[in-house]
Amino acid sequence: MGPDAGTILITGGGSRRGIGRATALRFAGLGHAVAVLDIDAAGAADTARDAAAAGSPAVFSAHVDVTDQASVAAAVGAAQAALPPVTVLANIAGITAPTRFEDITLAEWERVFAVNVRGTFLVTQAVLPGMRARGHGRIVNLSSVSAQRGGGVFGASHYSASKAAILGLTRTLARELGDTGVTVNAVAPSLVDTDIFAGALSAERKAELAGTTLLGRLATPDDVAGVIAFLASPDASYLTGATIDVNGGSHLH
Ligand SMILES: NC(=O)c1ccc[n+]([C@@H]2O[C@H](COP(=O)([O-])OP(=O)(O)OC[C@H]3O[C@@H](n4cnc5c(N)ncnc54)[C@H](O)[C@@H]3O)[C@@H](O)[C@H]2O)c1
Repeated sequence: MGPDAGTILITGGGSRRGIGRATALRFAGLGHAVAVLDIDAAGAADTARDAAAAGSPAVFSAHVDVTDQASVAAAVGAAQAALPPVTVLANIAGITAPTRFEDITLAEWERVFAVNVRGTFLVTQAVLPGMRARGHGRIVNLSSVSAQRGGGVFGASHYSASKAAILGLTRTLARELGDTGVTVNAVAPSLVDTDIFAGALSAERKAELAGTTLLGRLATPDDVAGVIAFLASPDASYLTGATIDVNGGSHLH
């Protein structure tokens, strides 16, 4: 990929140790313009600045609340006006919580689904028309091994169900877009040591989870970013509706 690689639009790219930031830096190095959208505007700006330093020809950042249609329309519209056409969309913004089923309030259930599922729906709907018109696009959605095996890592039933919804959305959209030049795939990581756990995952539990992988370690954000880059590359032209496991062999099926 070179300077005409187009733009990757990344939601959830503002997290300083997160998958979105690693993805921004990876695509910057591949010559993509990078749009970083996050509810954390300062974090998004930091990532955009670092993406420029990592070789991106053009960067943009903005505040977005992916649960809010007007906020998504404004941020995606501004990104599209500022940068070359969006060729890759990475729906990475997400939240989790370890709350046991009987203790989940309706508000918490709704919030997890709003960010993880509604957010992916709204951002994809905002970005898709341009991809469809140009006859090319690569959409990558973040699911989780939690969707496949029913939690068991950190996130509870609402998280697992929301990430399973992402798999259904990914497959259905891939089917609908079959002849448009737009592919839609999902990645399903096991535990990636980021700040999504907000300090609620002990070092002992992390070590235990590392021990459940065949590779004997947790995933890094870059492990996931590399697979997203593959899915956006010409080598992945014949993949759509797929779920790529990035789980170190912790879940084989
Ligand atoms: N870390 C893991 O172990 C793991 C495993 C499997 C899947 N995932 C998924 O990968 C994605 C990224 O996870 P991460 O570990 O990098 O998390 P993270 O917490 O480091 O980053 C998530 C980002 O999403 C942003 N965000 C949250 N709510 C938002 C909203 N309403 N609007 C816009 N942005 C919002 C946050 O500000 C944050 O920058 C998530 O979808 C997560 O569910 C993570």
